[in-house]
Amino acid sequence: MTMQMPSAPLPRGLVTPKAYSNEEIEAEAKRLQKVINQGTLWDIETCKTIAPLTLEINQLKEENDVFLIAHSYQTPDIVYGVADSVSDSYSLSKAARDAPQQTILFSSVRFMAETAKIVSPHKTVLHPSPDAGCTLSDSITAEDVRELKSRYPGVPVACYINTTAEVKAEVDVCVTSSNYLKICERLPGDRIIFVPDQLMGKHLAEHLAGKKEVINYDGECYVHATFTGEKIRSWRNRTAEQGIELQVLSHPECDADVIAESDIVGSSEVLREEALRLGSEGKSDIMLITECGTADRVRAESENDLNLIGTCVMCRYMKMTQLEDILQALREPHPDQIIELDDEIIQHAQRSLDEMFRLAE
Ligand code: 13P
Ligand code: SF4
Repeated sequence: MTMQMPSAPLPRGLVTPKAYSNEEIEAEAKRLQKVINQGTLWDIETCKTIAPLTLEINQLKEENDVFLIAHSYQTPDIVYGVADSVSDSYSLSKAARDAPQQTILFSSVRFMAETAKIVSPHKTVLHPSPDAGCTLSDSITAEDVRELKSRYPGVPVACYINTTAEVKAEVDVCVTSSNYLKICERLPGDRIIFVPDQLMGKHLAEHLAGKKEVINYDGECYVHATFTGEKIRSWRNRTAEQGIELQVLSHPECDADVIAESDIVGSSEVLREEALRLGSEGKSDIMLITECGTADRVRAESENDLNLIGTCVMCRYMKMTQLEDILQALREPHPDQIIELDDEIIQHAQRSLDEMFRLAE
């Protein structure tokens, strides 16, 4: 794969895919429409417009032996059209670590691509959207963690995976939405520092009450912080009046008040699986309290008629990546689309991720 800077980088969205025959485009559009499985939004004409992009991306992936990882919140054209692995942040960090390919393209926000680099430093990790940040990872610096450690010497520090490599390098262990309760419970002592998600930290503190004190931080996911327990209660009452028994599924980045009102709490992948399971058991009135990508996946993958009620909020960072960005990064990545981290940072951050894998399994 060529890695040099193109002489005049194309603006995003202006990448011209290779020319394909009408037959090739027709066949690819039919495949896309089937796998995306949302006929009204992704009709055959729309699928024809993206077919040349997915054709060339899939061709380049094969020619250059690239493993394309996408988080569940990426758009359906990426999730179903070009990704080799789609899941939550825990599973995707393992997929990156275990992939035999020497090049990984991570379609998601920056901290996930950095995590892929930390767990597999010898691989080339491409991140098509350098501006795709995250309000949680932007809320804390390595210096903030050092300051907390000096204020509470000897207290174990756990950080949510939604953090920079530099922050991960300062802590004892990383956690994700699928293992934070289990891992934090297993840490030694009667106090822990938990950064940076204050809403997850609040929920964690309730879970550990009487066993451990949680020293919390003040970060938030701007998407999940939008939801309130009050909104859920009012939806439950309204739908109950129509004889509907609402199933409420929420992500642990929501407020503790939302969590208390929810039937199921879990990572993006757990919510997808649980919504599909509920649908197959005839419990089809489902409210997904999370980013819209989870509902897109459930809609695409459910074999049952589901009534996905009310609410989802879109993450502007997760939705920054387009097929054009992926194609451009595969053809000729700009330097800021190749994840480079300091060796020492990688070594230290790797310890906190290894500790996560050890304690989570
Ligand atoms: P998951 O690990 O549940 O996919 O969460 C990542 C994330 O950024 C949710 O907002
Ligand atoms: Fe960050 Fe929230 Fe977006 Fe996830 S949904 S990437 S936590 S801002």
